[in-house]
Amino acid sequence: MKIFIDSADLDEIAQAFDWGVCDGVTTNPSLMKKAVDRRAGKGEKLDLRDYIARILTIAKGTPVSLEVTEFSAQGMAAQGIRIYELFNPVAENVVIKIPVSPAFKDGDPTHFDGLKAVRDLSGRGIPVNCTLIFTPEQALLAAKAGAAYVSPFAGRIDDLLRSTAGIVFEKSDYYPADGMEGDGEPIEDNGIVSGIDLVEQCVDVLDIHGFDAEVIAASLRNPRQAREAALAGSQIATLPFGVIRDMLKHQKTYEGMELFTRDIVPEYVKMLQ
Ligand code: G3P
Repeated sequence: MKIFIDSADLDEIAQAFDWGVCDGVTTNPSLMKKAVDRRAGKGEKLDLRDYIARILTIAKGTPVSLEVTEFSAQGMAAQGIRIYELFNPVAENVVIKIPVSPAFKDGDPTHFDGLKAVRDLSGRGIPVNCTLIFTPEQALLAAKAGAAYVSPFAGRIDDLLRSTAGIVFEKSDYYPADGMEGDGEPIEDNGIVSGIDLVEQCVDVLDIHGFDAEVIAASLRNPRQAREAALAGSQIATLPFGVIRDMLKHQKTYEGMELFTRDIVPEYVKMLQ
């Protein structure tokens, strides 16, 4: 499974690439705002164009998703082309991120505009990451429209299931991949029992029908979810910086290092100098 960093923070991205475990970057408007606010908070004057170019350069050779902010099919496609023309020449690694639907509620006339924009951009050879996926059928439609990547949001499905069942939780709390029961009944959203179940069903649907689109398991909030996304067959997991860092942690690894270090035979080290 490839690991992307889900961040627009230059320092986090640079660190994750320096660790040598990063295969790409995903951003979204909220992550961009967080990164810009953080810089502003430190009193830095940010040239956003230069800042994004630096992200692309660090991630050279791996895909970087940049999201559109328009709502109509034409607006999203035009902005996607603009983003691509502006930034792809930097390192040839731009992917345009398009919401599967830009509608704010059922019945909005823009309902299918995301898919239309995906088709338009894909038809021009511009790779698209179709985001805000919450059902396998949305993933299927996005793949049919030509998306190179589909991004199911695992953590936000867990949020929905927990909220609906009245469970009090922290955002990073683990939610079982097999789901939970509430009042003796499985807690589910239209047949989806957990965020990881959503990821697995998206992987299966695209696999069964031979689509090339890769699944990016997104909105993952802890290392165990990253493990379960891998076990579910997700081609990619996009992870916050802290989750990538925490994937390496184990008390017995630290303890083992202490014990091995204590036992080093000096002659062995001397021989290797
Ligand atoms: O990639 C999607 C991600 O940024 C959303 O994460 O934790 O806000 O649901 P989260």
